[in-house]
Amino acid sequence: MSGGIRLRPTMLSDLDFVISVEQDPANRPFITPWDRTQHEGAIRFPDFRHFIVEAGPGYPSAGFVILQGCRNPHRSIELKRIVLSPACQGQGAGRACIRVLAQMAFRDLRAHRFWLDVKGLNTRAQALYRSEGFIEEGRLRESVKTDDGYDALVVMAMLDREHAAMHEGRSGHADHPA
Ligand SMILES: CC(C)(COP(=O)(O)OP(=O)(O)OC[C@H]1O[C@@H](n2cnc3c(N)ncnc32)[C@H](O)[C@@H]1OP(=O)(O)O)[C@@H](O)C(=O)NCCC(=O)NCCS
Repeated sequence: MSGGIRLRPTMLSDLDFVISVEQDPANRPFITPWDRTQHEGAIRFPDFRHFIVEAGPGYPSAGFVILQGCRNPHRSIELKRIVLSPACQGQGAGRACIRVLAQMAFRDLRAHRFWLDVKGLNTRAQALYRSEGFIEEGRLRESVKTDDGYDALVVMAMLDREHAAMHEGRSGHADHPA
């Protein structure tokens, strides 16, 4: 699999898959799983966008992503969740998703700010977000319960002008396709 991915709107019939990926023991430490009703709400409410990640013929369903705040008056959109099935991780699909989602947030949904929070222990995701232009804004200390205590939530964000500058920089370099 290359980094090439496609996002399609999640349907109610996808929710068994969504919940199984979210509940996968390899993914559990990094997210706080939702119940089915929360996912149904995110599919239905216009403030959310819920997508299945397709990663080529080998992986018609590679994972899912959720945006929240799409109707936010402050134009502040949150990358609420990104989860890939373990078989699809580490092959560039996550990075490709972040690029597509940032474009969607800033270009299609006219966001001013695109932000997320990520657990302190999730250094893999933090490295990805940082390398895609997100800036760490702060740490909410001991915010989420873990098996042996608490973990921080790291808040990271990108502004529209920062995304535009990065995009411009990339288009000028053939070795960094946008
Ligand atoms: C986080 C996640 C979306 C990243 O997607 P991915 O497809 O696995 O990541 P990519 O292959 O695109 O790699 C992107 C970057 O992640 C980092 N990365 C990937 N695997 C890593 C690992 N095992 N250790 C440390 N960093 C790693 C690297 O910075 C990599 O950059 P590189 O291309 O320069 O090597 C995916 O791994 C996932 O679903 N994880 C479980 C759920 C989760 O943590 N979600 C995020 C919650 S905030």
